[in-house]
Amino acid sequence: MKADVLLGLQWGDEGKGKVVDVLAPRYDVIARFQGGPNAGHTLEFEGIKHVLHTIPSGIFHPTKINIIGNGVVIDPVVLKREIDSLVNMGVDIRKNLFISRKAHLILPTHRMLDAASELSKGKAKIGSTLKGIGPAYMDKTGRNGLRVGDIEHPDFQRRYDVLVSKHHELLKHLEFEKPMQEFDHGWAEGIEVIRSLNLIDSEYEINGYLDQGKSVLAEGAQGSLLDIDFGSYPFVTSSNTITAGTCTGLGLAPTRIGEVYGIFKAYCTRVGSGPFPTELEDATGERMRKAGNEFGSTTGRPRRCGWLDLPALRYAIMLNGVTRLIMTKPDVLSGFDTVRVCTHYIYQGQQIDRMPFDIVNNHVQPVYRDFAGWEQPVGDVSDVSDLPLELTSYISFIEAELGVPVVIVSVGPDRKQTLVRIPEFA
Ligand code: GDP
Ligand code: IMO
Ligand code: MG
Repeated sequence: MKADVLLGLQWGDEGKGKVVDVLAPRYDVIARFQGGPNAGHTLEFEGIKHVLHTIPSGIFHPTKINIIGNGVVIDPVVLKREIDSLVNMGVDIRKNLFISRKAHLILPTHRMLDAASELSKGKAKIGSTLKGIGPAYMDKTGRNGLRVGDIEHPDFQRRYDVLVSKHHELLKHLEFEKPMQEFDHGWAEGIEVIRSLNLIDSEYEINGYLDQGKSVLAEGAQGSLLDIDFGSYPFVTSSNTITAGTCTGLGLAPTRIGEVYGIFKAYCTRVGSGPFPTELEDATGERMRKAGNEFGSTTGRPRRCGWLDLPALRYAIMLNGVTRLIMTKPDVLSGFDTVRVCTHYIYQGQQIDRMPFDIVNNHVQPVYRDFAGWEQPVGDVSDVSDLPLELTSYISFIEAELGVPVVIVSVGPDRKQTLVRIPEFA
């Protein structure tokens, strides 16, 4: 068997959590492969709304194995909070949650360093979620990090103290003055919880499951345009959010990757700083934000909104090898007279359909094609053939431009508000 991948093609928050939860019944194993608690994946079903940060979005399916892979960075404080809230809802995570021993830990001082780094950047700040992601990945690649498996080592406390004192030196240099007590609340309890969980060598387990013919869905976090290599650097996150991240983040050979589901909103959003060619800083953008409830699932910050960007989507599809597309949130655009799609950019006086090297310092001007909007609300539509004609044309245009089929259309946050568009896929 090969592992399928589901990941975001934009700047995150495309609806990955919702759709992974919908697809979970088709798989035996759901595995997160990168990122950490900067992610906020929202699931809604039976009147429950739940946001997951570190735990895979298959966790509400009791028979499914959920794995936090080696590529993820884990904050024990956040993980404990997530587990407590699931246990309160009656989810038995002891049975179906497994954590890679090779996943790196986010220390309280990583969060302090994140805050210090952002403060020192002033106006040029990344707009980080301040969850300690960048500093934790820096320690990983700098070969100083602590891993989940290290918790079982008798020397863990000493190694923690050494790393913390190194961080304090850096914090002094950055003139960060907030006390450690504001940040390390719950650390010891979090570590104890991790110690009590199912810790595994996830690369062996996942490859073993595939050998046994079990199906695996890898769940991405963030989005392709926040990728450390291919996003609008430096306004990116600190991991590879693209399909390649699945290989390193789970220990899967490239030949073991099967279908790649690329998920995108019917428009675009971005939270945090950085270029956003189709951004609408006007009443239309405000209307999208309101209708789409576009406020960060992790930080509550308002998300920036704008029209769909095809050059950016083409780029993401190329990088990821997307085989199936999933569109979310077209319901948000109901009632807009006109819906616009950016088909090209004007860059340095030329029309291009690529993502240029530097869109941070050089402005790209979107070239739009306009579509008639759809008047009716679509949240209650239960069959794809009942979608308004205007929306169907909009989807068909995007599909033709991108050369990849749109197999699922999500028309609301609930599990049930999911339409299968390609019959063979049902
Ligand atoms: P993720 O990070 O990709 O999992 O996405 P988030 O959960 O951060 O943000 C997506 C938001 O849109 C959440 O509030 C979801 O409940 C909601 N959502 C997901 N799909 C749809 C949809 O098709 N329509 C609407 N209106 N909301 C959706
Ligand atoms: P999910 O998985 C949207 C953004 C931050 C910031 C940049 C760097 O829910 O789609 P970081 O905390 O990683 O140092 O922040 O990346 N960002 C996200 N934006 N969705 C996310 O995750 C994000 N995770 C990080 O806003 O601009
Ligand atoms: Mg999110």
